[in-house]
Amino acid sequence: MDTLKVALGDRAYPIYIGQGTLCRFDLLRLHIAQPSVAVVTNTTLAPRYLPSLTAMLRAEGVEVAEIVLPDGEEYKDWKTLNAVFDSLLERGCERGTTLIALGGGVIGDITGFAAACYLRGAPFIQIPTTLLAQVDSSVGGKTAINHPRGKNMIGAFYQPKAVFIDTDALGTLPEREFRAGMAEVIKYGLIRDLPFLEWLEENLERLLARDTDALQHAIRRSCANKAEVVVSDERELGDRALLNLGHTFGHAIEAGLGYGTWLHGEAVAAGTMMAAELSRELGNIDSQDVARIEKLLGRTGLPVRGPRLAPERYLELMRHDKKVRDGKLRLVLLERVGKATVTDRASDQQIVKAIDMRSENA
Ligand code: NAD
Ligand code: GLY
Repeated sequence: MDTLKVALGDRAYPIYIGQGTLCRFDLLRLHIAQPSVAVVTNTTLAPRYLPSLTAMLRAEGVEVAEIVLPDGEEYKDWKTLNAVFDSLLERGCERGTTLIALGGGVIGDITGFAAACYLRGAPFIQIPTTLLAQVDSSVGGKTAINHPRGKNMIGAFYQPKAVFIDTDALGTLPEREFRAGMAEVIKYGLIRDLPFLEWLEENLERLLARDTDALQHAIRRSCANKAEVVVSDERELGDRALLNLGHTFGHAIEAGLGYGTWLHGEAVAAGTMMAAELSRELGNIDSQDVARIEKLLGRTGLPVRGPRLAPERYLELMRHDKKVRDGKLRLVLLERVGKATVTDRASDQQIVKAIDMRSENA
């Protein structure tokens, strides 16, 4: 097992990564203030992972409330959040009760936000079960629910007490979800870790076959990158925005097609190609670099072209991005392969050209 640290002073916390971390009560107990927890999960994961976790906790004398939510991004909303508060209040959960998020990014984000608000702040622990959640969303304290006008619009920065990454949980993850999570893994190589990108190019098949050692390495390296960025800029005033390579284009794809049509990682992959094309257009990288990125994403089975939306529609959707400042689009682009930058240097015409080159109707 590997242990990383998110070094945020008095809010510092460990990330445990390994096989079977889900059963490590010796570690879990270190992060539970009172012997009382509320495990929040969904209807897909509850039958698979809840019984063993709750049996272990109860055997150790911990009082456990189980909160099982419906599965899906469409439930990351006020109604479901309120249902979590109802359950916590009905069961008399106190401020010292630790909320445990057992699931993917949806469960992690909603549970984290519930913890940030419940009795003005209850402790919480992340047990991420998708690749995306293990390499990205469970680390860094971004918590949120969606608003009809936009994704993740209502939320808080609220750090967990610990993150338990059990690589065994990936054994039941559907193939499409696994590959979508890979978009975020590849992102770390592109934005700040060239040696990791090279490792991914060499070890992709092992990783896609979910080889235990390859998974351990890729998750550790992704979390180490994420933790460093978060520590340097917890509230996204600067460099944390670099974690959004391909995301502004990607969010436009998700919203333009209707959420759920493409998975987040799939939209990010096509968005990354648009960002790469634009970086080339601005003279930062060359066509061989673009082809290199396309090859890796393509080998992963991810889309390297966006859907057929009018470029103007892309621009309109992209203007809802949280990075927009004074009405101007700020995009994460590549300075070179292995280093990203945030810039407002691209003109609408250049953005449209990159989108055009990287969408189905190109
Ligand atoms: P998800 O949580 O919807 O999980 C995807 C699907 O996989 C679900 O049906 C889930 O039930 C199922 N699943 C989860 N683990 C499984 C397992 N081990 N075996 C079988 N099935 C399993 O999706 P996701 O991709 O994990 O997360 C997406 C969410 O994360 C979005 O809401 C996004 O906004 C958010 N996000 C947050 C951050 C952040 O920093 N907080 C970063 C990136 C994404
Ligand atoms: N997933 C982007 C971030 O955590 O900042």
